Amino acid sequence: MEVITITSGKGGVGKSTTTANIATALAMLGKKVVAVDFDIGLRNLDMILGLENRIVYDVVDVMEGRCNLAQAIIKDKRTKNLHFLPASQTKDKSVLDKDKVEKLINELKKDFDYILIDSPAGIESGFEHSIYLADRALIVTTPEISAVRDADRVIGIIDAKSKKAKEGKEVKKEIIINRIKPELVEKEEMLSIDDVLHILALPLIGVIPDDEDIIKSTNLGEPIVLNEKSLVGEAFRRVARRILGEEVEFLDFNKKKGLFSKLKRLFK
Ligand SMILES: Nc1ncnc2c1ncn2[C@@H]1O[C@H](COP(=O)(O)OP(=O)(O)O)[C@@H](O)[C@H]1O
Ligand SMILES: [Mg+2]
Repeated sequence: MEVITITSGKGGVGKSTTTANIATALAMLGKKVVAVDFDIGLRNLDMILGLENRIVYDVVDVMEGRCNLAQAIIKDKRTKNLHFLPASQTKDKSVLDKDKVEKLINELKKDFDYILIDSPAGIESGFEHSIYLADRALIVTTPEISAVRDADRVIGIIDAKSKKAKEGKEVKKEIIINRIKPELVEKEEMLSIDDVLHILALPLIGVIPDDEDIIKSTNLGEPIVLNEKSLVGEAFRRVARRILGEEVEFLDFNKKKGLFSKLKRLFK
């Protein structure tokens, strides 16, 4: 049983997309998973999972005792083992209370192998609640200097304010680099994977290419990991296997281009 928070410094870098896809992929690997949306007021994990029409109660209703957990948790019909606990739409972001959050997570721990928390960005209130109980944090960043700097700040907050940190232990932290564009890295117009890891000094658990199909799959409410042929889907499926402790090679997105540039060099 593991509590994994998916977080970032900057907003809009792909946390919810990552949470939906990794939750689905872990469920497909046979793990009992619940994805919890802690991004109060900005909920969109429900849309990415295609479950927005089935929401009756949300995470705040559970914490305030207006319903029980079983009433609020939505069971995905498409992916066996996948469950979802929606965020509240309330504008009041201070609704999360530390003790209530802890009680909720402890209850979830009895039932699930993996609890995935979709966190707000590091500057938002609610962020500290979403990292407080994490055993493990996946820090999502795009390969841009501002996003990487903000990610670095968030890593510092996890090390200072998580429950584990307060107990003198450490939250396991790993980096996901999202929206990588190999052709821009090659032209040195984008930070490379090495550049990002050099700054953040943490292990890499995923590299996800920039792909328009992500936007299509969000509009359809079908996480891209459900598409067996998709390369981005494969990138997320590999993250899920790494979470389970498997050693999995990183995809080489530049294969075609690599061959192409080699040929070009030959014929120069
Ligand atoms: N790898 C990707 N390729 C293309 N678009 C992406 C990718 N990852 C995320 N997006 C898009 O970026 C936007 C923000 O993603 P989202 O997951 O909502 O970020 P966050 O939860 O960090 O705010 C969405 O429109 C999403 O579809
Ligand atoms: Mg989000």
